[in-house]
Amino acid sequence: MPASRPGSTRGLTRRQVLEKWWTLPVGATIVAFGWMGLYASRVTFGKRAPGRPNFVPGTPLRVAAFSALTQDWAQQAFTYDGRPCLALRLPRPVPGGLTVAGAHYAAYSRVCTHLGCAVNLIRDPEVLAFSFNYRPPDSSPQLGCPCHYSVFSPLGSGEAVFGKARAPLPRVRLSRRGAELWATGIEAAPELGRGGAWAGNMSWTTRLALPSELPEVAAVLQAAALALEKRGQTLWPQEALSAAALTAQYLDRQYPDGQRWLGELETRPVATMTLLVSDPHFWPDAQGEALYLHKLAVHPEFQGLGLSTRMLEAAVQEARRRGCGFLRLDTVQDRPRLRAVYEGFGFGNCGAKHVQGYEVALYELRV
Ligand code: FES
Repeated sequence: MPASRPGSTRGLTRRQVLEKWWTLPVGATIVAFGWMGLYASRVTFGKRAPGRPNFVPGTPLRVAAFSALTQDWAQQAFTYDGRPCLALRLPRPVPGGLTVAGAHYAAYSRVCTHLGCAVNLIRDPEVLAFSFNYRPPDSSPQLGCPCHYSVFSPLGSGEAVFGKARAPLPRVRLSRRGAELWATGIEAAPELGRGGAWAGNMSWTTRLALPSELPEVAAVLQAAALALEKRGQTLWPQEALSAAALTAQYLDRQYPDGQRWLGELETRPVATMTLLVSDPHFWPDAQGEALYLHKLAVHPEFQGLGLSTRMLEAAVQEARRRGCGFLRLDTVQDRPRLRAVYEGFGFGNCGAKHVQGYEVALYELRV
């Protein structure tokens, strides 16, 4: 076997290696640009048209008096079938909308069809151009998602016109009852997730956790707390809890009467929340007035898929089932992303409170 020459690497001379090294970054760049091109063409040309309305009938719900929507682009937020929705008065009729006495209305689910954040009405085309990098051809208001900047057209029956979302927003069926606007059905929610992969072949369930499943509840909380600790944050500063301290025994002590919930993908518990019937520390209200949400967490492997929205939807349904008027929660002031999730879902900020040495923001949602 011939001996390697000095300066050679496994049979290649240093000169040959130096002559070829450029192929690595060039190859990586070609692959990266190829992937970006593929992704861009998917989100640009792969958008689904809204098509003919396909409503699933539901329990009729009063949305607003027509007198509350006197001008074009007046809006009314409401929750239907556990989903945050928005009714709009529009300057022209749209398929799936309603026309009453020459005025046009439409309503859409606010759950973004990309990963489930809540969309808002953006009226100013300059804000759309600056923040969303989208300029509507007719300068009309659009529904924008603050998470990854998808844009949906209210005058296009909720069509996704820009950004990562591909499916249109589900439409709400509207009808007239006297002088009031009512919701009577809603289109099915499309599959959320990265390319629809997780939801396409995995089922999602929210359910009450059995007492014996307290360790599963604790495991989700610990995983979420651990991910935050790695980023130099804590889950709940008031408790100065380490992930390791979030044990089943701790939860049992802290919320002896709490109703614990699990969210499952297939059979894997990946999200949790605790619901309380009273919360005198933060909300000295009458019993039965509201349901109080605590310890909402999603396992870090499954964050960004809109699962916290699904847990909130389950909490809304439970509050309704119990006849409560509100769903309430508190969160520390300096968690802007978490607060954006709650505000995007429709919770209103009720102010701040100083409790046991820390500052919390109080939120409530009329259900
Ligand atoms: S664009 Fe709305 S969740 Fe990503």
